[in-house]
Amino acid sequence: MNENEYRQALATLETPRDCLRWAETVLRREQVVLGHGTDDFGDEALALLLHVLHLPWDTDPRMLDARLLPAEVEAFVGLVRRRVSERTPAAYLTGRAWFCGLEFRVDPRVLIPRSPLAELVEQGFEPFVAPERVHRVLDMGTGSGCIAIACAHAFPEAQVDASDISEEALEVCRDNIALHGLQEQVTAVRADGFEGLSGPWDLILSNPPYVDEQEMAALPAEYRHEPELALASGRDGLDFTRRLLREAPDHLSDGGVLIVEVGNTAEAVEAAWPQVPFFWFEFARGGHGVFMLDRDQLLEYRNEFT
Ligand SMILES: C[S@@+](CC[C@H](N)C(=O)[O-])C[C@H]1O[C@@H](n2cnc3c(N)ncnc32)[C@H](O)[C@@H]1O
Repeated sequence: MNENEYRQALATLETPRDCLRWAETVLRREQVVLGHGTDDFGDEALALLLHVLHLPWDTDPRMLDARLLPAEVEAFVGLVRRRVSERTPAAYLTGRAWFCGLEFRVDPRVLIPRSPLAELVEQGFEPFVAPERVHRVLDMGTGSGCIAIACAHAFPEAQVDASDISEEALEVCRDNIALHGLQEQVTAVRADGFEGLSGPWDLILSNPPYVDEQEMAALPAEYRHEPELALASGRDGLDFTRRLLREAPDHLSDGGVLIVEVGNTAEAVEAAWPQVPFFWFEFARGGHGVFMLDRDQLLEYRNEFT
């Protein structure tokens, strides 16, 4: 967006409706990449505008034609300009993201929450997991803590460990644990894989790094704002997952299950271990590449995960 367009926007936009119309055009024309919480240019514009106006998502539509203050227009136009020129995802510009209907603080120390695991958490993992059997949960590679915190809501009687190798990510995670008042139920722990963690857990969840080298090299600019540690996992994207599969059975309780997101790397998983009976979830709201194995299966195939 050039200086002229910026100045013209400041001089002419008056209402939220004007702002949204203008921003949608700009975001679409500049082909910003979505996928960090919204999948539509209009929603992306709306997220930025509601943030500037300190208004909730269910704001009365009558507000659309209210007159904005010049400072509000300036703040909004400035955010759209940054969204376009820096390619910073909207969630990092607003510092907020939603997961399982819960709000989380986010910044570039953590991946922006978007895992399809949300759908499973909202359903309490039923019918795949018996809720009365879930006393301890581990969310490995917790980032913002979104999965761990949503699990604490789904299993109010369970203790949840939220682990990450990144101390910076854990700072954000601890803020989110406090934001949700879950200090008694969710514990943030620094750990490289299982090193230093003490189980066993009835449910181990992970949305680990799983982007392969080729995909990393081609990532759109928006994704380069996220920590590389949260995305890259070796040549075939399976470095973390391979280790998790090998080590998980030693840390699961009898009858415990491991549920892992591998996204587009699902094909590589199937190709690497064709004999392993991975159970792949289907999602009503979209998303793919999440598998489940129980402890017995992990033990049976352990020697394959090399
Ligand atoms: C894809 S992000 C997932 C973040 C969060 N669970 C979510 O779904 O939004 C992966 C996370 O794994 C962490 N991670 C990377 N390598 C790790 C390791 N060896 N041990 C533990 N965590 C690791 C990263 O720091 C990052 O926070």
